[in-house]
Amino acid sequence: MKKTIRDVDLAGKRVIVRCDFNVPIDENGKITDETRIIGALPTIRRLIEQGARTILMSHMGRPDGTVDMRYTLRPVAESLSAHLGREVLFVSSPAVVDDAVRTAAAGLAGGAVMLLENLRFRKEETENDAAFAKELAELADIWVNDAFGTSHRAHASTAGIAAYLPAVSGFLIEKEVAFLGDAVEHPRRPLVAVLGGAKVGDKIPVIENLLTKVDSLLIGGGMAYTFFKARGYEIGASILDEKHVEMAAALEKTAREKGVALLLPVDVKAAAAFANDAAADFYDADGIPADRMGLDIGPRTIALFAERIRSAGTVVWNGPMGVFEMPNFAEGTRAVAQALADSGAVTVIGGGDSAAAAAQFGYAERMSHISTGGGASLEFLEGRILPGIAVLQDK
Ligand code: 3PG
Repeated sequence: MKKTIRDVDLAGKRVIVRCDFNVPIDENGKITDETRIIGALPTIRRLIEQGARTILMSHMGRPDGTVDMRYTLRPVAESLSAHLGREVLFVSSPAVVDDAVRTAAAGLAGGAVMLLENLRFRKEETENDAAFAKELAELADIWVNDAFGTSHRAHASTAGIAAYLPAVSGFLIEKEVAFLGDAVEHPRRPLVAVLGGAKVGDKIPVIENLLTKVDSLLIGGGMAYTFFKARGYEIGASILDEKHVEMAAALEKTAREKGVALLLPVDVKAAAAFANDAAADFYDADGIPADRMGLDIGPRTIALFAERIRSAGTVVWNGPMGVFEMPNFAEGTRAVAQALADSGAVTVIGGGDSAAAAAQFGYAERMSHISTGGGASLEFLEGRILPGIAVLQDK
């Protein structure tokens, strides 16, 4: 168990908090999804209540060590001020830490909050540079990591800084680890994992780890076609991860040996082109015509998957079932999201596209937990130790 902000005295302390405010911004500089900002509020509110002097920091995008104002955190400061109902002081220093920032941080009153500029304006951030980590650390007395979405990165603000300050977790990381950790380590059974997405290659370590934990593994999305190929099916013009055909066969074998039910789609919706309005029909999984590409799972697969999800004790879902951004190929993903929402199971969505899909189809409120981490939740499900969590103090 890692120490959290409940375990340390915060009153009057300068507390530097790493958040993941890497939120999508449109061309007018407006934040289009505030989920990660909202996820950080419980920790910030606690610090305010305890009278801490709070310094927030985050990256946004990948400016790669250049000062690119398309990635300024100013909109985040405005959003935070609105949510908290108090000023969040924003010091937009291109150097992230300079004399103006040091003066502002030293002058914070108890309960006051400030936000630093985008950490990735400095290349030393992603290099996990010790001197930069120290510059950040010198602003504060305690470091709190609450950036679950960035905890798979060993950067100056997510890992290096722990060498200089007491390091504890915020409430978001605590909650993410509790839900994702319990889902795979102490699940209510049966444990069903639903995996999708385009490439098998990206998901192999997750599949390998989950095959040691789950009762059923349901595979949809683009990666199913590589499994079809491994079975010798005709997949037409569907997406194929050629390099991983043998691996797909090996994973099916492992599943059989371990007694895990690995379910692939039994029918698909396949189109004449990769376009929403392309001619499309339903085909058996082993009967896709040579000139068609599978872009969604079919109705018999939806029924099969929904039935497993309905009888599950815990469901972990990562990756869409089809090209859900196109309305004509969204039904499989929508139906899986609905099956999770309707089931009495503990439902955990591992961030990224599936989180976006659950929100888009209006089921987000009915999930037990939607992770704020994309890559981080995937690495967590791979069973990896995340560096930003490993460096936190144990209880
Ligand atoms: C994310 O969006 O997954 C995190 O903020 C990490 O961003 P990164 O992949 O650019 O490190």
